[in-house]
Amino acid sequence: MKEQVEKLKSEVLQKIESAKDLKEVNDLRVEYLGKKGPINELTSHMRELDAEGKKEFGMVLNDLKQTVTAALDEKKNAFETAELNAKLQSEKIDVTLPATKIPVGAPNILEKIIEEVEEVFMSMGYDIVDGPEVELDKYNFEMLNIPKGHPARDAQDTFYIEGEEILLRSQTSPVQVRTMLKGKGEVPIRMICPGKTYRRDDDDASHSHQFMQIEGLLVDNNISLSDLKGTMNILFKRLFGDKCEVRFRPSYYQFTEPSVEVDVTCVNCGGKGCSVCKHTGWVTVVGAGIVHPHVLEMSGYDPNIWSGFAFGFGAERLAMMKYGIDDIRVFYNTDLRETKIFDREDEE
Ligand code: DAH
Repeated sequence: MKEQVEKLKSEVLQKIESAKDLKEVNDLRVEYLGKKGPINELTSHMRELDAEGKKEFGMVLNDLKQTVTAALDEKKNAFETAELNAKLQSEKIDVTLPATKIPVGAPNILEKIIEEVEEVFMSMGYDIVDGPEVELDKYNFEMLNIPKGHPARDAQDTFYIEGEEILLRSQTSPVQVRTMLKGKGEVPIRMICPGKTYRRDDDDASHSHQFMQIEGLLVDNNISLSDLKGTMNILFKRLFGDKCEVRFRPSYYQFTEPSVEVDVTCVNCGGKGCSVCKHTGWVTVVGAGIVHPHVLEMSGYDPNIWSGFAFGFGAERLAMMKYGIDDIRVFYNTDLRETKIFDREDEE
């Protein structure tokens, strides 16, 4: 029987040795070590042996089982390692390859300026309000002291939606009227309103048929030009730094009396004079004034009791000054390459 065992052993080991893949190894395991396999078959012969013979044969069989199991395991491991290596080889990552660039977005610089302005005013207790871009002639002009036929309308020709009464707002000033009507005579009113405005201008370096204004209105007790000046001072020092000075020049708007133009120290030359400020050292940035009594009255505020200041400015102008942009079309021609430059400069 020993010879039988030896024969079986060499037969199995040879088969294991020449197995071509994992499946064959597994099949051999089932074939030889399984319940109905030849090794188990040999065990049944134990019965025919005496005690000594059983012991001896038992050891031989055990040895056979262990040898076969070890050979199977070894072969299995060899196949598994080879498979893993092949997989690693095929999935090899070249860490020296340049990475795919993922374009990173950045806040729009116009939005950024608006947010900065909003923060300054919020810190002074102002509300940020909204108004419709499609506006009534009544609010855009009439209730701001610009009746039909008034020559001031020529400078603010806009796009009409329906007849003569519904238009794209040419300024954010109608939001003053809307805010006062909503306020129903209550004070204080402290609001700013950033928003899109439209005019029938031909687009060029300094004109755009669509642009962004920021309107401001404050109504309370005993409001004077010095309140307006203090407010403008805070705004521009916060935006352009402590060295930035503010000055008022007399002006004319239909809805303020007196009216002023607000100039600030030229950011480009620090007030020394350059081509940006036409060698004056100053740049005009805001139109403002004390709210006209008739405007207060039309919107339900008694001008004998209440007074207020109002202002309005173009957001693009501020962004252009801050980022040294010399063409307003940069904001609207959707060429990302142009605005990207400013995004990056600002981040550095
Ligand atoms: N709405 C004016 C414009 O578009 C700007 C302006 C001037 C707004 C004076 C005001 C103001 O609130 O008081 O030219």
